[in-house]
Amino acid sequence: MTTTNPLRDPRDKRLPRVAGPSVLVLFGVTGDLSRKKLLPAIYDLANRGLLPPGFSLVGFARRDWEHQDFRQVAYEAVKENARTPFREDVWRHLAEGMHFVPGEFSDPGAFEALAMAVKELDATRGTGGNYAFYLSIPPKFFPMVVEQLQRCGLTEHGPHSWRRVVVEKPFGHDLKSARELNATLHRVFPEESIFRIDHYLGKETVQNILAMRFANTMYEPVWNRSYIDHVQITMAEDIGIGGRAGYYDGIGAARDVIQNHLLQLLALTAMEEPTSFSAEAVRAEKAKVLSSVRLPDDLSRTTARGQYAAGWQGGERVRGYLEEDGIPPDSRTETYAAIKLEIESRRWAGVPFYLRTGKRLSRRVTEVALIFQRAPHLPFSETDTEELGQNALVMRVQPDEGITVRFGSKVPGTAMEIRDVNMDFAYGESFTEHSPEAYERLLLDVLIGDPPLFPRQEEVELSWGILDPIEEYWAEHGRPEPYKSGGYGPASADLLMARDGRAWRRL
Ligand code: BG6
Repeated sequence: MTTTNPLRDPRDKRLPRVAGPSVLVLFGVTGDLSRKKLLPAIYDLANRGLLPPGFSLVGFARRDWEHQDFRQVAYEAVKENARTPFREDVWRHLAEGMHFVPGEFSDPGAFEALAMAVKELDATRGTGGNYAFYLSIPPKFFPMVVEQLQRCGLTEHGPHSWRRVVVEKPFGHDLKSARELNATLHRVFPEESIFRIDHYLGKETVQNILAMRFANTMYEPVWNRSYIDHVQITMAEDIGIGGRAGYYDGIGAARDVIQNHLLQLLALTAMEEPTSFSAEAVRAEKAKVLSSVRLPDDLSRTTARGQYAAGWQGGERVRGYLEEDGIPPDSRTETYAAIKLEIESRRWAGVPFYLRTGKRLSRRVTEVALIFQRAPHLPFSETDTEELGQNALVMRVQPDEGITVRFGSKVPGTAMEIRDVNMDFAYGESFTEHSPEAYERLLLDVLIGDPPLFPRQEEVELSWGILDPIEEYWAEHGRPEPYKSGGYGPASADLLMARDGRAWRRL
């Protein structure tokens, strides 16, 4: 599979990063993430020639399945959700390495069967005793699964093989539970074997924040409090909670995505230049930013939360959060959250970072916007510049991946009239190849053993340290404000900005 790769650009002289012999054991194989992201990403990696010839995938779940049933489920997931074209030969080769072990997490016998299955794969497919265990399961099962893995000897390995464990968020629901979860994992796996997935870090556009900042000269001189007025980080979604009531209720928007994705975006935007792109150097700089984050004193004026009510979206009538299946009618879970943060550092002192996220908003957009201060002096008459706003640099994470710079320009004509215009860089226009999915990149990194894109425990704990006081405040102060589906979020979020004489960028 590695030798003929039709999708590789022949001009690419760099050696491809290809995984070595290995088995990926997937717990939670019947879940949504598996079907929508993980199984398609594995196929896409195989299709790009990045998996070794004997690569094997073992599904473990409480289903009465044979190998063939698992392969059929994977086939459908790939057909439906893979990014690259379907190729019968690639699929057949991949499917030969797919095995299924039925069982309960509480059943030692099932884990014995798992141990036998992977050993057999080592013998028949040359997977070299290298196993990655992907826990795409509710965190309450983590302790049981890691103990079972240890009990059946699956966590032991020789000097020439490896074990890795991949954990999906949520990494706890507050600082205390995050520490407990970490202790559970550490009882069995050393830190270097633990890969915590934050899929935002696998997105090309998120990695491009670092490329943009540290590969160029023109941004760095203005990337600080002398030029930047404030920063807005937005992750807006147009979807509701779908079938995820069990996961989402009681978690809410802030724990779901601010604790991880948005604070990681903040860290990448605000961090200092790392000494290298090694895992340690990048993570250390991110941790420095997160430990300098300060919450404003008055959380009633600097945070806002909302819950979507019924409304119209994409021409369809949609239900409110409280009417969704599985949601208690008195739920106080927020589906929108906005917070104002400050970073106590020489570079950022006095520059507010506003973070917002919400479900069922008017459209899907994730972006980081740096809004510049106004020019200290404008040698124009007031009417000339009525339509001149503040300069902005916007990194669009998705969709329409790219970068926009907004600045003032003379409107053609005989008068000196100045208006905002945009200068655009779009990935789709500058590069011919499509970006890989975040999970392709992250799964490959796990199999290769390359950790820079995975947050370490310190970052997780620092992020909970930022969020915990807000969650506590919210728990004691009323309910989230209803907002109309298909709109722009709750009025309290607009007020949060208006108090500072600012406004959110239009969605
Ligand atoms: C997940 C959240 O981490 O990210 C979901 O749990 C959210 O609630 C999803 O919908 C969004 O991911 P993306 O890649 O579509 O922005």
